Amino acid sequence: MLKTFSSVAALFSAFVIAWGQPAATFDPASKVFRLDGGDVSYVFGVNSSGELQQLYWGGRLAKTDQFPRAVPMGEWASFDTPYTNTPQEYVGWGAGLFLEPALKVTYADGNRDLVLHYESHTITADGLNVVLKDIKRPIYVTLHYAIDAESGILARSATIENGLNQPVTVEQAAAAAWALPPAHYTMNYLTGRWAGEWTLTQEAVHPGERVIESRRGSTGHQANPWFALQAGEANEDQGEVWFGALAWSGSWRITVEQDQLDAVRITGGFNPFDFGFVLHAGERLQTPVFYGGYSAHGLGGVSRLLHRFEVEHVLPRRAGANTVPKPRPVIYNSWEATEFNVTEAGQMALAEKAAALGVDRFVMDDGWFGQRKDDHAGLGDWYVNQEKFPHGLKPLIDKVHALGMDFGLWVEPEMVNPDSDLFRKHPDWVLHFVGRPETQQRNQLVLNLARPDVRAYVLGFLDKLLTENDIAFLKWDYNRNWSEPGWEQLPAAEQKRVYVEYTHSLYGILAELRRRHPKVELESCSGGGGRVDLGILKYVDEVWPSDNTDPFDRLTQQDGFSYAYTPQVMMAWVTDSPHWLNKRSTSLSYRMLSSMQGSLGIGANIAKWSEDEAATAKRLIAAYHQVQPTIVQGDLYRLISPRNGSEFSATQTVNREKNQSVVFAFIHSTQEGRKFPLLKLKGLDPAAVYALTPIEGKTRPETPATASGAWWMNHGLEFDESFAGDFQAAAFRLDRK
Ligand code: DGJ
Repeated sequence: MLKTFSSVAALFSAFVIAWGQPAATFDPASKVFRLDGGDVSYVFGVNSSGELQQLYWGGRLAKTDQFPRAVPMGEWASFDTPYTNTPQEYVGWGAGLFLEPALKVTYADGNRDLVLHYESHTITADGLNVVLKDIKRPIYVTLHYAIDAESGILARSATIENGLNQPVTVEQAAAAAWALPPAHYTMNYLTGRWAGEWTLTQEAVHPGERVIESRRGSTGHQANPWFALQAGEANEDQGEVWFGALAWSGSWRITVEQDQLDAVRITGGFNPFDFGFVLHAGERLQTPVFYGGYSAHGLGGVSRLLHRFEVEHVLPRRAGANTVPKPRPVIYNSWEATEFNVTEAGQMALAEKAAALGVDRFVMDDGWFGQRKDDHAGLGDWYVNQEKFPHGLKPLIDKVHALGMDFGLWVEPEMVNPDSDLFRKHPDWVLHFVGRPETQQRNQLVLNLARPDVRAYVLGFLDKLLTENDIAFLKWDYNRNWSEPGWEQLPAAEQKRVYVEYTHSLYGILAELRRRHPKVELESCSGGGGRVDLGILKYVDEVWPSDNTDPFDRLTQQDGFSYAYTPQVMMAWVTDSPHWLNKRSTSLSYRMLSSMQGSLGIGANIAKWSEDEAATAKRLIAAYHQVQPTIVQGDLYRLISPRNGSEFSATQTVNREKNQSVVFAFIHSTQEGRKFPLLKLKGLDPAAVYALTPIEGKTRPETPATASGAWWMNHGLEFDESFAGDFQAAAFRLDRK
């Protein structure tokens, strides 16, 4: 049943070693391990008790700096043991541990004590593997470490192996635990709900444990597996911040725990709620990867490190390609225009309009298959609806190609409507508990992708669809969370494997589709941003951050999203006004500029657009195409946050060579005549000369046409008096002369 997780091995080999130096070292005298990458050093050692103890994580140290042998913390009176007080790399539950364990097991004889000591290690090309073993029984944990030479971002995970000749139940397994010294920390994390994802939530870390998690079987809209802890006065631009992101698209949990001695530990991995993975004799369980990093440049520094790392090391590359993934094509998507009411003629008409705007990819959304007239029927029946497309998809795809675009299609492979041929034939294929009601959400049930027959069906129909049609892109949707997660084919004690096997099966299907169809690109959508994490981002090229396409709401959502994820993957459609959700009216120019902060798409009913609207969109799509690499792959500076009802907001991106920069500015509502603030730009080369070109809007008439980077950063950019009112937007580009 257990797979070998080659994806994890691939991940580690993706790192680059600078200057041919090993990324990790071990000093046999002090038994200290050290990893160096970018501006970061990470140090831990085998302490005098034999435990693996964390020693340092922060700014890069000199090569000559030495650490003495790790000494365990003392006890705190008779209540807190050294085992509890010592920050361990991966602590087993046993021996009087009162804090969050990394690993908790129950042996077949009812014993539940697990104390992991150092056993051996190997240095790898980009990090190291350290083997721990229980002090009495052959339970092994191999900790994997890799560090990125450029960003200093660490990738950590664990492999748990049962060397007994009896089964062991793993009740809790973290990917990694991180430790920080006592300080005043502010915790940043991302929360939300459907249509309200990506709220940056900030709170002081207090004694006790703060839990962020999903119990839903997938990542979830409500919390995202990312955190950043700011020390002391750290802010957007400066100060020390430690951050992490868990690469897992199933139920997950991250705990941030300030212990009895004020130190802080962050532990994350599989969600222990309802968890129970029976490891048979000789079997292994591989955890997800937990990435962690450090920046001395505030939250802005964190997201710049993460954005670059994601593009260069996480996102899938085209087979054989040596270059980082390209910026996304500008897409058109039919959902908000037609919903389920798709027809060949209607889609062709939209495709003509989209092509005239300069769109690169035409995507037909829900409604094209089975008996899909609304959300009550059809999911599971992946044949083309004959009434809507009498000659199959070919005429539409040919038309889209003739118009100079490629073609994308919506699918929701993991779901089934009870009103479908698939469910009538295989009612047992869904997640369920025998004899219990099956809870429907959006009239649909979840297929148990962990089952080999379901996996084969899903892979089979997708492969057929992609083989028979010239499809460049799939929008892979997932519109509900789990209920009744039973898996009756397995023995009762083993059914909870579903929490691990389902997600691996999903990743396996995505990887296999990419292997068989190397040109196909994928989007992860889950009713908006319900499945965005660094696990799925290894397999998909982009994500749909939210079903909320209101351009004003999107500013805050995009701001929140940007703390953890690169704008390269952040699809942003321009839709109709007034907006369906908030009934807010905004100009097309405002909507376009809001979406141009990410990977631009058009999702409006363009069949109804006036000539003026089409001309505005065409002009701005052309302008976007020219600067898109700088926007989605450049260094992002959040100049003014839109959060907390801010009157104004602004962002700036600078490309890697520092020869282009793009500035976006938005006004919510001008109040008391206040002018848009002077924008002091960031990240430019002070000695270079940059020419300023408006994309939309005007600067003050006195603004020089060209000036040094020093001028734009120190003197700043001033807006024209006319930049005022409600829901206004402006954008400028700067190009090195
Ligand atoms: C939810 C997605 O987020 C929407 O964009 C759209 O694809 C609908 N599903 C279709 O049912």
